Amino acid sequence: MTAPAPALAPDLAAGLRRLKLARFRAIAAELCQTAKTQRWAPEEFLRTLIEAEIAARDDSNLRLRLKAAGFPVRKRLEEFKVQVSSIPQPTFDYLAGLEWVRARENSLCIGPAGTGKSHLLIALGHAAVEAGHRVRYFVAADLVETLYRGLADNSVGRVIDGLLRADLILLDELGFAPLDATGGQLLFRFVAAAYERRSLGIASHSPFNEWGRFLPDQTTAVSLVDRLLHHAVVVVTSGESFRMREARTRGGGLPLKQG
Ligand SMILES: Nc1ncnc2c1ncn2[C@@H]1O[C@H](COP(=O)(O)OP(=O)(O)O)[C@@H](O)[C@H]1O
Ligand SMILES: [Mg+2]
Repeated sequence: MTAPAPALAPDLAAGLRRLKLARFRAIAAELCQTAKTQRWAPEEFLRTLIEAEIAARDDSNLRLRLKAAGFPVRKRLEEFKVQVSSIPQPTFDYLAGLEWVRARENSLCIGPAGTGKSHLLIALGHAAVEAGHRVRYFVAADLVETLYRGLADNSVGRVIDGLLRADLILLDELGFAPLDATGGQLLFRFVAAAYERRSLGIASHSPFNEWGRFLPDQTTAVSLVDRLLHHAVVVVTSGESFRMREARTRGGGLPLKQG
């Protein structure tokens, strides 16, 4: 058994604390001992410490970005079964590669309930966080609500600037709740501000020609779709609801009773 490593000299420990090199400080004493007994080259010793500190920081940044993203559930691209969805594999691969986020393009996913829109949106968001991007997830109605609150104290512009600090903003369930004229205007203002500056990932059950149903002003609806689609990957999900499929499997293949 090796003897425990002697503690780091107090001035070194204090210096590392002041420089906020937490990981470095945590392992330095033991590493000094290992380096001595194994006769490491000075450069190797230094490299090991630096790599450990960088890895610890990357890890904590990732955790912070994940928290800031506000995903409602954990969904991953690896868990998305492309072959049972209606999404062509090359389209899925392009989205998963995240080039569209770097290029500030949008991704729009349209399809009925249970066809994997939210799964794809959140999983892409998660992958973007892992790739180092800042991401924010919103149910569309909550985003509009946030903008609405900005109206009260004239801070809509600032709220939008804050949201656009993220590289990718995800809006789920767009069109679930109809918007009033002001809500439509606010959403348009947000989309216009993000246009060609940030990536938007959007999921909606409404095909574009039906967006007039939840956006009361026709001109706003057209301008909004126009901006969203200018640089965009559009994915249409179709087929049977995954939720229904799973429920039926659990029910042993019997048709589900209504009610
Ligand atoms: N292609 C898929 N592969 C794996 N799971 C899927 C797929 N499509 C949907 N699901 C799962 O089915 C459920 C419903 O999907 P969801 O993304 O919430 O649908 P939507 O947002 O279109 O209503 C979720 O649990 C989701 O993880
Ligand atoms: Mg959904």
